[in-house]
Amino acid sequence: MGFIKDFPILNEKMNGKRLVYLDNAATSQKPVAVIEALEDYYLKYNANIHRAIYSVAEKATQAYENTRKLVSDFINSTDSSQIIFTRNATEAINLVAYTWGETNIKKGDEIIVSIMEHHSNLVTWQELCCRKKAVLKIIPLNEDLNLDLKVYQNLLTKKTKLVAVTQMANVTGVVTQLAKIIKLAHKKGALVLVDGAQGVPHLGIDVKKLDCDFLAFSAHKMCGPTGVGVLYGKRILLEKMPPFLFGGEMISHVTLKKASWNEIPWKFEAGTPNIADVIAFGEAIKYLQKIGMEYIRKFDALLLEYALFRFSALKGIIIHLPKDLSDTGGILSFNIPGVHPHDIGSIFNEEGVAIRVGNLCAEPFVTALKSPGVARMSFYFYNTKEDVDAAFKAAQKVYKIFGL
Ligand code: ALA
Repeated sequence: MGFIKDFPILNEKMNGKRLVYLDNAATSQKPVAVIEALEDYYLKYNANIHRAIYSVAEKATQAYENTRKLVSDFINSTDSSQIIFTRNATEAINLVAYTWGETNIKKGDEIIVSIMEHHSNLVTWQELCCRKKAVLKIIPLNEDLNLDLKVYQNLLTKKTKLVAVTQMANVTGVVTQLAKIIKLAHKKGALVLVDGAQGVPHLGIDVKKLDCDFLAFSAHKMCGPTGVGVLYGKRILLEKMPPFLFGGEMISHVTLKKASWNEIPWKFEAGTPNIADVIAFGEAIKYLQKIGMEYIRKFDALLLEYALFRFSALKGIIIHLPKDLSDTGGILSFNIPGVHPHDIGSIFNEEGVAIRVGNLCAEPFVTALKSPGVARMSFYFYNTKEDVDAAFKAAQKVYKIFGL
């Protein structure tokens, strides 16, 4: 579709070579429309929101709230008051742990996460379980690198209060069977939080159809600016949850002795929010909607197939992908036996190819793959076959340098 013109950074050089950006699971690039929206706000209508009655502030308030509506429609939430802006997906997950978790989790209760979680959707629940003397259970992998749902079924008990699971793994790109996971959890009376940090930018999501209770994701992995995360929660839950942070805007009335809380979503947005970045996030959503999530998913699959075809030709390479590629996104993690992933990353860097290496903020998962750390290429719709070819050439250089 020719997206390069929308992303000036993709014409930049890195170490004298064309920048080949294959670290989209860490953060995506931003189209001009998003950058211009930031500039527009600061140049033309910079003002605080929800509190002033002059026109420029009203314009800013409207633009900020318009993004909430766009996000709500994008994930098919019935009502935009169920959308809360946070700093990132991590903060959205922590918000649930510190509000719903603090009030609902008791000693002996159980929380289930999966082995495929990145640290935000693991450590947050480890800590809550520790504070509450609750039990954390882990869904293991099945033989084809997806989650073992038979084991999951047995992990669920009457004591299970929450299942917190990823939509798409950041290490392997494997897409979990959320519909089944959610149905089984609800049958036992447990709530489900979906970590959509990787999945939402590549697959979209339909929270109404899935019936998940909470969803967390970040703007910066889907063409939006850094510093904006989203928590979706069902109204009935959000209304009962206590606030997370206290201060201006989240209150309804204040006396010197006590305060009452604003309605959702503002109850959870204390202080001046990240106005400019939320407004620009709206442009990112419009941009993705123009491309279409169906197109992005298909494109990811085609590029992954091509990358797999090329990289499989490398002698002894270990590729961390399932045999059945129908449930994977645009991620290819690999190891070259005898070469430290950091050396792979450095040689790719010399060739202008940006990839992430190491435990990818998912140490237990990478350990379960019996790897000391991986090298990861993660694609988005603006990548090309030429990008994969450049990465392949960099991999050949690794083989040459290490005499493999
Ligand atoms: N942002 C982290 C990644 O690169 C989790 O996958």
